[in-house]
Amino acid sequence: LDPTERVVEAFRAGEPVLVHDFDDREGETDLVYPAGAVTPAEVARMRNDAGGLVCVALPDDVAETLGLPFMDDVLDHPAAAAHDLAYDSRSSFSFTVNHRDSFTGITDRDRAMTISRLAPVAELARAGDYDADDFGGEFRAPGHVHLLRGAPNLLDDRQGHTELGLALADHATLPPAVVVCEMLDDETGAALSKADAREYAGRHDLAFVDGDRLLSDLS
Ligand code: 5RP
Ligand code: ZN
Ligand code: CA
Ligand code: ZN
Repeated sequence: LDPTERVVEAFRAGEPVLVHDFDDREGETDLVYPAGAVTPAEVARMRNDAGGLVCVALPDDVAETLGLPFMDDVLDHPAAAAHDLAYDSRSSFSFTVNHRDSFTGITDRDRAMTISRLAPVAELARAGDYDADDFGGEFRAPGHVHLLRGAPNLLDDRQGHTELGLALADHATLPPAVVVCEMLDDETGAALSKADAREYAGRHDLAFVDGDRLLSDLS
């Protein structure tokens, strides 16, 4: 199997896959999962082995239906005035949520509940059977899981992990809700190098793919 096929197959099976974006972008490798597959043990893997922010990406149409804005559009504060990211034209951050059945929201159990429930919610929202009021009935904000909103035309508009992950979900015909978490290096505190990310994948029998490869195979 080529790297893209192996990644699509593993992702469809609910395994974490490793996606490096691009050397001239963030230069980061994220652990990427279908939201519906995330268990408390996988939240523990993300915080222990990856160490970045645990986020759930939703596509633009689903975010629109659920009333989930880009944070930089709604924050009326000087800190949100200028889009001056060094690696892209804008951030995909929306706001943070907790499932209403969670307690503090941060435990592995609580985050897994918030994350896994977002999969059927995204599918229902895409079908027009779940709206912002339904969302507010089930989730509270602020919370401990970061929501990300994909660019309207996915990879044609933006090539972040947000869009790479959502394209993977489309390709695997899974609900459009994808968990991403950056892999950091415990020794240096920097992004985990691509070589070390590949080594982690090998050690844990996980699939690794480069953004370039995913981009040319999925778009
Ligand atoms: C949120 C991030 C990560 O980089 C994540 O991969 C999503 O962002 P992007 O789509 O810009 O890659 O910043 O933790
Ligand atoms: Zn980032
Ligand atoms: Ca660690
Ligand atoms: Zn990223």
